[in-house]
Amino acid sequence: MIVAIDGPSGSGKSSMAKRVAKELGLHYLDTGAMYRAVAFLALERRIDLNDADALESIALNDKIEFVHDEGEAIAKAVKIAGIDCTKQIRTPEIDKAVSPVATCAKVRSALVNQQRQIGALHNTVMEGRDIGTVVFPNAEVKIFMTASAEERAKRRYLQNQNRGMTTLSYEEILEDINRRDRVDSTRDTSPLKAADDAIMLDTTNMTKDEVCEFIKNAYLAVAKSN
Ligand code: DC
Repeated sequence: MIVAIDGPSGSGKSSMAKRVAKELGLHYLDTGAMYRAVAFLALERRIDLNDADALESIALNDKIEFVHDEGEAIAKAVKIAGIDCTKQIRTPEIDKAVSPVATCAKVRSALVNQQRQIGALHNTVMEGRDIGTVVFPNAEVKIFMTASAEERAKRRYLQNQNRGMTTLSYEEILEDINRRDRVDSTRDTSPLKAADDAIMLDTTNMTKDEVCEFIKNAYLAVAKSN
């Protein structure tokens, strides 16, 4: 079974998808980390981010690995071409570089193939932007998580503070979220949009526990009827 969790950046889907996977004993795949890993290697190799063929070559040939501890749903590290890039893919530099990478149709096609292969192996909670629309249009559970841009900026700001990353102001984060929403939802290939049959989940006024319960119940209802 595939639980597809899509939504804009900062909607809280990453932490929620991880939690749901853990509590339900499912695998977890962060597809955004794959686009980020390609962007990381492209910068490492000083590749022009508009060079679609060079980016595609990375996506096709440089292996992305999620390193798991035995029996753990959540990967402890991400590698590309054997290089551990777990920390580097979360930097503001990659936040910027990943947009052109994610808009590249050739990269998307290569990564979607890999995502389908990974999802075919296990019951998986897969999070991204196009899981319910493109990667697994037949996913058994599809959730589209949203929250207002202001709420998402507030959450990201607090998360950064907790991680000791204090360089970005709330306003800068809000601006970045609005910019990324615009790029993600207006690109030609797989623009961010909810699948027609996705459950829309606006989390602006929900607690994390409520969101988690909601998604788990959606999964359990389908699992029971299968
Ligand atoms: O979820 P994230 O912020 O880690 O995603 C990084 C970038 O990759 C972001 O610009 C959206 C894009 N992305 C995508 O286009 N499709 C996905 N399935 C996952 C992420």
